[in-house]
Amino acid sequence: MRIALLGGTGDIGRGLALRWGHDTDHELLVGSRDPEKARESADTYRTRLEERGVDADLKGFENAMAADRADVVVLAVPAYHLVDTVESVADRLDAGTILVTPAVGMQRDEDGFHYNRPGAGSVAALAAAETPEDVPLVGAFHNLPAGALADLDADFEWDTLVFGEDGDAKATVSQLAEEIEGLRALDVGGLANAPEVEAVTPLLINVAMCNDDLHDLGVKFQ
Ligand SMILES: NC(=O)c1ccc[n+]([C@@H]2O[C@H](COP(=O)([O-])OP(=O)(O)OC[C@H]3O[C@@H](n4cnc5c(N)ncnc54)[C@H](OP(=O)(O)O)[C@@H]3O)[C@@H](O)[C@H]2O)c1
Repeated sequence: MRIALLGGTGDIGRGLALRWGHDTDHELLVGSRDPEKARESADTYRTRLEERGVDADLKGFENAMAADRADVVVLAVPAYHLVDTVESVADRLDAGTILVTPAVGMQRDEDGFHYNRPGAGSVAALAAAETPEDVPLVGAFHNLPAGALADLDADFEWDTLVFGEDGDAKATVSQLAEEIEGLRALDVGGLANAPEVEAVTPLLINVAMCNDDLHDLGVKFQ
């Protein structure tokens, strides 16, 4: 598969690029608003993987170029720039390309982090409104700690909650998620269930902030 990571220069993009680069043979396109930054990040990730004896198929491009002809496009950008990013690549998306949102909108105050639920219902619903009709939108990877994902020495057993309206697209994203060692994908229904998934992320951060011995938290359902 050809997987584009828009904003793949950032924290969650780096984690997913390194894990997929390490655990799979997929073609990985690191996207950025700046093509030079994209190439530098892709080179850095490739070098890190080469040091571990892994020859990954990783290249860097400007976001729209990365999205062009990709099978799956992950929107690894801050929630407040998700809609702009979808708009900037929309005319490059083929029918059936799967868009994936891991985005969570949060606010911070003196008590901690809080889910900032948009009027549309969820960040995913905002993105869905801007997504071409023939492009399915799937939510996944919201509750993964980027730092541990990017640390290839870190073992984990986490779940990722997957939602969306298109069953085939959810199955594809779930399979991609489960190709990352230690990750299990759980179906949580349609787009209407996005707010509950997005709201878990600030909870995980608050638990880590309030408990010195806990950090890089994910979720596991048993
Ligand atoms: N960090 C985590 O642990 C984590 C975990 C799960 C989900 N998430 C979600 O994943 C998404 C990305 O999180 P992150 O922590 O990786 O974010 P980040 O590191 O702050 O940013 C990711 C990338 O977004 C791009 N970006 C920044 N401002 C932008 C703008 N105005 N327009 C378009 N692109 C912009 C930048 O890439 P360029 O400058 O190269 O374009 C940046 O490297 C967020 O929606 C977050 O809620 C994060």
